[in-house]
Amino acid sequence: MDRNDVFARLPEVLLPWYEEHKRELPWRTDREPYHIWLSEIMLQQTRVEAVKGYYARFLKALPTVAQLAEAEEDLLYKLWEGLGYYNRVRNLKKAARIVMEQYGGEFPRDYASVLALPGIGPYTAGAICSIAFEQAEPAVDGNVLRVISRLTDDHTPVDLPAYKKQVWDSLRRIYPRRAGDFTQALMELGATVCGPDKKPDCKVCPCRDFCAGYGNGTADSLPVKLPKSKRRKEDKTVLIFSCDGRYALEKRQEKGLLAGLWQLPNLPGKPDLQDVLGSVEQMGLKTKDVLRVTQRQHIFTHVQWDMQGVYIEVAEPAGGFLWYTLAQIREHTALPTAFRQFLEELTDV
Ligand code: ADE
Repeated sequence: MDRNDVFARLPEVLLPWYEEHKRELPWRTDREPYHIWLSEIMLQQTRVEAVKGYYARFLKALPTVAQLAEAEEDLLYKLWEGLGYYNRVRNLKKAARIVMEQYGGEFPRDYASVLALPGIGPYTAGAICSIAFEQAEPAVDGNVLRVISRLTDDHTPVDLPAYKKQVWDSLRRIYPRRAGDFTQALMELGATVCGPDKKPDCKVCPCRDFCAGYGNGTADSLPVKLPKSKRRKEDKTVLIFSCDGRYALEKRQEKGLLAGLWQLPNLPGKPDLQDVLGSVEQMGLKTKDVLRVTQRQHIFTHVQWDMQGVYIEVAEPAGGFLWYTLAQIREHTALPTAFRQFLEELTDV
């Protein structure tokens, strides 16, 4: 079967399969553009299981685009805390303002206008236009590229932009009337049967009888990917200062990684304990006791932090920091996971 025939078969096979096998997910209960948009932004870098709770909490706090447009930054960060990639939530608010100011509160429907909103790339625009508005706009993500490369036994590296474009063009030609279900059916096949972390489960695949990867025995070794560029590694010393049940926090700078969020005080590198205590003194704090030192790691897209956490009891809550109890930190501040992990084992609340 040639490549075009494989694409042509997809709607008739995938739509009934999706109807029967789709997972019940909170964002599949309606087609409200705000809901589809929010779920797709959350799902960009985060697993479905993790997104479910965040999605419900976010919509409970901000049920409408109008409320999102007016939301305080601290509330947004709190709702996003632990999801990472905080630019996503900053862009959600920017886009909500545009929807309110330029579109009178009604989410734009045409692909070019959706794509022009902050934080919305071709994938998300395709997902919104197809799922919320039933337009024949493909949404090509890693799931879809993997499925198509296997179905067509194509060994072109899937991360080449030219490959993505080719898949996009081929899909656009065969998009059925039920565009939203078709977009989600393709994703669902990639997320469940033709999955990323395990061998494809070809026994239960609705596409098995026309899948070239299955027929040629190559499905397991696809997709082909370009070699990954290496992550930069940074050493850091995170200081967990405590004083009478309160911990020192500060705000990060407005630019760069995790901009504008909260952090535990920290030093570059991994100096030895004597040097750390010297720096602590320069911050205006008096060390009472060094409680312990732990090692932790956090991986971002382009950087990896290798951290030593030094737990220090100090004499006074000084040093220009804000001093909060664990309960206050949990409820009122957005502390990124990289730092929060150091507080997780503390239980004096
Ligand atoms: N991954 C990306 N978008 C998704 C969706 N709408 N449902 C399930 N998984 C997804």
